[in-house]
Formats: sequence, C-alpha cells, structure tokens
Amino acid sequence: MERFLRKLVKTTAKIYYNSVFKKKREKKYIPASGKLLDWEDLSAMIDASLDMWLTAGRFNDKFEKEFARYLGVKYALSTNSGSSANLLAISALTSHKLGERRLKKGDEVITVAAGFPTTVNPIIQNGLIPVFIDCEIGTYNIDSSKIEEAISENTKAIFIAHTLGNTFDLDKIKSICEKHNLWLIEDSCDALGAEYNSQKTGTVGHIGTYSFYPAHHITMGEGGAVVTNDQELYRIILSFRDWGRDCWCKPGKDDTCKKRFKMQLGNLPFGYDHKYTYSHIGYNLKITDWQAALGLSQLKKLPQFLQKRTKNAQLLTGKLSDLQDILILPTVHSNVQPSWFGYLISIKPTANFSKQQLVEYLEKNGIGTRQLFAGNILRQPLFVENDINLRIGNSSILNSKNLTEDDYKLLPNTDFIMNNTFWIGTFPALEEQDIDKISDAIHKFVKEN
Ligand SMILES: Cc1ncc(COP(=O)(O)O)c(C=O)c1O
Repeated sequence: MERFLRKLVKTTAKIYYNSVFKKKREKKYIPASGKLLDWEDLSAMIDASLDMWLTAGRFNDKFEKEFARYLGVKYALSTNSGSSANLLAISALTSHKLGERRLKKGDEVITVAAGFPTTVNPIIQNGLIPVFIDCEIGTYNIDSSKIEEAISENTKAIFIAHTLGNTFDLDKIKSICEKHNLWLIEDSCDALGAEYNSQKTGTVGHIGTYSFYPAHHITMGEGGAVVTNDQELYRIILSFRDWGRDCWCKPGKDDTCKKRFKMQLGNLPFGYDHKYTYSHIGYNLKITDWQAALGLSQLKKLPQFLQKRTKNAQLLTGKLSDLQDILILPTVHSNVQPSWFGYLISIKPTANFSKQQLVEYLEKNGIGTRQLFAGNILRQPLFVENDINLRIGNSSILNSKNLTEDDYKLLPNTDFIMNNTFWIGTFPALEEQDIDKISDAIHKFVKEN
C-alpha cells in the first residue's frame, strides 16, 4: 500500500513537473553558473519528504558512502555548506587528540589572497595566522615556487583551493608538506571531479572539502562534504560536525562503540553516557535527508555534467584563441584534468580597455560574469576594518588594518587578478549557441575598442 501511494504522489508530482519546469524558456541572459535539475532530482526529494525522517538518515548514509566511493577515499562526511566543510577541516586540526601535531593559537597556515573568503576565514576564526603567497597568472593557483621561502618555524599547514576547477601543483606542494611536516587541506569546493595524475583532487592531502551550493558541479541547494583517508581525522571531524561529542553513533542509533556506559572521560564519573560526552568545542553542521537525497541523485549525473563543462571550456578556448594578443586564456599543466567551475580570462595590460569596461559590456548584453571572488582579499573591508595578524610571503607579522601599498606590492599577481581577471560560465546548461554568443560579444567589444 505504502509503495502504491508513493507512486501515486510521484505520478501527480511528475504531471506538475512536466507542466511547470519542462517548458522551454527563451534565454535572455546567459548566467555564469547555475544548477541543472531534472525530474529524478525532484523525485528523490519527494522520497525524502515521504520518509518524514527530517534529519540525516538513510539518504545521507548512502550519499556519504557513494561520494567516498566516487572519489576513491575512505571517509566522507556531509556538511551544510562548503564553508562549513572548510571550518571543520581546520578546526579538526586543532584537536587535542592529535597531540603534538595539533594546530595551536599563533601557528601559521599558508594560503592565497585571490580566492573565496571562507577558505581564509576559518584560519582566522581558529586563532591561526594566515600567510599569503602570490598566485600564478594562467592557472590562478598558488605560485608553488614561492612557498618554501615563506615557511617559518610556526608554519604548520597549507590550506588552498584548486582555483575554479584547475588543479594546483599537487606533486610539488605535497612534497613541500612532507619535507616540512605540514598538514595539507585541499579546498576542492570548485573542483569536484578534477584530477591530478589521475587522482581526484581533495583526496591527495590530509583533508579535502567540497561545496554543493547551486553554482557548483552538483548541488544539494546548500551543502558540502569533508573527506579524508585518516580514521583519526574522520572521527575528529565527525565530532566537530556533531556538537563536539565524543560518540560517533548515527542519528537515532545508540551504543555503536559497545562501551556507552563503560568509559571514564574528562573528569566525569565512570560510566557517564558516552552519547552525552563532549570532547571538542564543536558545532552542528549536519544536513537534512532532503539535501542528501538531492545530492545522491545529482551525483549520478556528475560524469555527464563534467563532460559538458569540459566541452564548454574547450569551445571557449577554440573560439577565443585568436584574441590571445589581448586576452590571457586559462593554462592547464600536463598532469591535470580540470573540472571547470568557470572560465577565467585576464585582460593584458597592453589592451586599450579595462576589465571593468568589458565586464560591464558583457553584462549589458546578457552575459553573466564573475570576479575571482574576493580578488585580493587583503584589500577587502573584512581585512581593512579588522585587526588581523598575518604575513605576506617571508615578511614579518603585519596587521591587516595597517597594510600599505608597499605591502600589497608583495602580491603583484594577486593585484593583477583583482584588476584584470574575470570569469564566464562553463556549466552544463550552456549550449554551443550560448558559447557562440559569449564569443561573438567578446570579439565585437575587442573590435570596437
Ligand atoms: C573555493 C571555495 N571554497 C569554499 C566555498 C564555500 O562554499 P559554500 O558556498 O557552499 O559555503 C566556495 C563557494 O563557492 C568556494 O568557491
């Protein structure tokens, strides 16, 4: 009976879906990013609704397993955003359970200033000091040749993103981490499915993070994940995600450890319920089963989404390659298979026009553009208006409020990115005629200027 009724609900919902969402709408605007949902996605969310489980349940269990399997990693934990995944990754490394290896207040973490704020924010939120390294133009990733000169005795980790799906130099950076005993966190929020030497990004370092916000390769609406191959880190991340508790039972389950009333931890009495024992200053960053159901359904389509992103990026390169005396198109290293989040373009300093002029022209002509997020985050109000200790390259400690133009000059390419770089879409809903429109508009603007 239950099955039959589920089918009935879904049959009605499918009629609704077909009449409301399947209509072809004329595209007036070509967005830089967006979600691609179909009936299977809605059907999965209906299933989760009809379960009326609400919190992370059967769909979440399956999502975490399937996501780990897709990446070829041992452990995956869902989170309610990519920003939460980043917060968990760095918070986990402060755990007392890591002994001497734990990050302590005042330790330094190497990162970049051209990127998304919530790669950098968790470093500051945990009382750690960000050390900013310049980026390369072309890949827009960290300039790995500049890392070693910035390492001090306080440097304990590298936390950087694979910029817009183009993988940073993992071989080199991993070997720097091994040589200097540093943790490596890969922010793979914009790079799901990208590969380096045929290994998925996010699985090479100690911890990898992902975002499933609608602009990303798959979506849960809001959502993210943290992955690791290390069981100890997995348990610590789980604890920080789930209120800081020591227990690792799934919601609705008890006594997974078989020692629920047989432990003595902290200064608690022997046998105090393990389910209510807390070992970290934790959060609650879990997802609901609706999000997980959507994530699972989207994950099935990831290979075809990636193919389309690759094709759109190739089309853009083909169509814009005649403009390379004015525009810098993305560079890809030979052992990298990118999973293009977007297509970055820089205006050469010799051009007769500015990025601002081109971007405004494209937007006016119905073509969505995006910045490389914060541009130079050190120039953003969040740094200028707050007292944040930081270093730039091998500088001594600087205060964010007192940075001068001379300090910014230590990151020339980051300022170049802020001034000259923007990106356009590659996401799977874009068709060749959309790419043609983008290319035609850029060509027309260049010709007229
Ligand atoms: C590199 C990077 N890291 C983290 C995030 C944060 O993800 P979320 O929006 O899911 O919090 C983003 C967002 O797009 C991002 O681009």
